[in-house]
Amino acid sequence: MVALTALFTLCAALVAPLGAIASPTPAPHAQDERGMEKRWYPIAPKVMIVSMFAPEDVWRKNLNLSQNVTLPGLSPLFPNVGCNDDGSICHMVTGESEINAACSVMSVLLASEFDLRKTYFLVAGIAGVNPFTGTLGSVGFARYAVQVALAYEIDARQIPSNWSTGYFLFGSDEPGQPATTIYGTEVYELNTNLRETIMGYTDGVTLNDTATAAAYRANFDYSPANQPPQIFKGDVSTSDAYFAGSMLTEAFGNITQIWTNGTGEYALTAQEDNATFEAMVRAHTAGKMDFGRVILMRTASDFDRAPPNQETVFAFETNQGGFSPAIANIYVAGLPIVEGIINDWDSTFAEGIDPQSEWSYNADVFHTLAERKREVREFERVIKRSNMAKLRR
Ligand SMILES: *[C@@H]1O[C@H](CO)[C@@H](O)[C@H](O)[C@H]1NC(C)=O
Ligand SMILES: *[C@@H]1O[C@H](CO)[C@@H](O)[C@H](O)[C@H]1NC(C)=O
Ligand SMILES: *[C@@H]1O[C@H](CO)[C@@H](O)[C@H](O)[C@H]1NC(C)=O
Ligand SMILES: *[C@@H]1O[C@H](CO)[C@@H](O)[C@H](O)[C@H]1NC(C)=O
Ligand SMILES: *[C@@H]1O[C@H](CO)[C@@H](O)[C@H](O)[C@H]1NC(C)=O
Ligand SMILES: *[C@@H]1O[C@H](CO)[C@@H](O)[C@H](O)[C@H]1NC(C)=O
Ligand SMILES: *[C@@H]1O[C@H](CO)[C@@H](O)[C@H](O)[C@H]1NC(C)=O
Repeated sequence: MVALTALFTLCAALVAPLGAIASPTPAPHAQDERGMEKRWYPIAPKVMIVSMFAPEDVWRKNLNLSQNVTLPGLSPLFPNVGCNDDGSICHMVTGESEINAACSVMSVLLASEFDLRKTYFLVAGIAGVNPFTGTLGSVGFARYAVQVALAYEIDARQIPSNWSTGYFLFGSDEPGQPATTIYGTEVYELNTNLRETIMGYTDGVTLNDTATAAAYRANFDYSPANQPPQIFKGDVSTSDAYFAGSMLTEAFGNITQIWTNGTGEYALTAQEDNATFEAMVRAHTAGKMDFGRVILMRTASDFDRAPPNQETVFAFETNQGGFSPAIANIYVAGLPIVEGIINDWDSTFAEGIDPQSEWSYNADVFHTLAERKREVREFERVIKRSNMAKLRR
């Protein structure tokens, strides 16, 4: 009897960890000092929601994401990932701007506590908006994220008289020319077939709005700036510098055109996405996640430039009334997507959704997901060339 009991115990011990890996969402019961029973790791969420700062966290309370998983490498302000009881939905906050985003996302993606190979990532934050593509409270879903300020910069007062901006790309001689020195984080391209699928879940939602936002919109004499908020497709710029005004936004719109060969349109502006995506591309390459399962949703909290004839007014110093509807609409538009992924997991999401065949960048400028080896060689060649160029200066 003793031997038999020991055998059962051994079998149970063998089965438990295997079961935890194979079936993605076992309910944790007994808790360790971090709030979760160790033998239930790794947690394999179906959805990981990514916020950038505290106001964007419309999730933890509403979805009962009360299981804290504290990880080394997260921001000291947001030291844990919150999951629901069955581990199917988790949420993290990166901290603001590019460095926080890259470090925090990387620490979650590499953590042994998580198995994220089938997880859908919903990066959902507020953003500035181009009035030619959206308005306060609008919700944008991106194909591209472009690091627009990854460039040389000369103060506008010292630029040649025929230049339209002080920004010009690395290795180029003047604005408008493509870069010849590549860092690899300039632009990211997401799965547009996934974008089509998840945007279907937002059909018919009623977006939040405020009277202040409606009044401010009326300062614009064109659409969609002066229309009620809508759900739309548009690309996101990343820059640590919080820029505003028609000149810089036009310059960065031009840079977005260069990086996407005219297929992208600068629509929204934020401080993190390229950094988040760089961590994700690296984790994908390491077999830790699937970059084809990433959604970028940004809701518009303020215009990126002043209304016509008010160019002396700094857009972001005006109370535009867009902050609260933008925060509210993260949840309004995001919840049906989270629910859709959970409810239609078996029929649609478990297997993944193939990316577009014309996925020009295959995630990034190095075409990392398609031709990794060839591109690494190309990368080494470019680096060698840029190092030689530096030496010649
Ligand atoms: C969250 O938990 C509370 C208390 O356990 C419960 O009343 C509520 O229904 C839960 N909400 C969700 C969305 O699961
Ligand atoms: C979980 O983390 C959140 C956010 O950091 C915190 O507010 C909450 O108190 C934590 N819960 C537990 C049970 O430690
Ligand atoms: C970030 O992504 C945007 C496109 O969304 C691109 O225009 C920009 O150049 C990228 N910036 C960096 C620093 O990677
Ligand atoms: C500015 O003028 C110089 C000298 O004529 C010319 O070489 C250059 O291409 C011009 N640059 C732009 C951005 O127009
Ligand atoms: C917008 O959200 C606020 C705060 O949640 C709420 O009080 C208001 O009723 C909402 N307005 C609309 C039009 O949904
Ligand atoms: C953007 O590009 C257009 C077309 O090349 C050019 O006319 C315009 O001056 C550029 N704007 C800025 C601010 O660089
Ligand atoms: C833009 O053109 C370059 C060079 O032909 C190509 O490598 C890249 O994939 C293209 N990108 C897009 C988004 O079309």
